Amino acid sequence: MMQAVAAACLARGIPSTAIFLSLERNMACAAGLCGLCQFGPAFVCRDGPVFRHDRIGPFLAVSHL
Ligand code: FES
Repeated sequence: MMQAVAAACLARGIPSTAIFLSLERNMACAAGLCGLCQFGPAFVCRDGPVFRHDRIGPFLAVSHL
């Protein structure tokens, strides 16, 4: 759903830098150590949970991330 909404925003001319996504992932350590919450190069517990689309957008299309 986030991917579809972000695509709709981009199609309406909203820049990728103005789209923010709030991610939820299972967590264990909550300190960036275990990698359970990793989404692409980002750790949701340490770096998020809110990310700008230009940072994580390319990873939304990757299944099993
Ligand atoms: S919960 Fe362990 S790295 Fe995020």
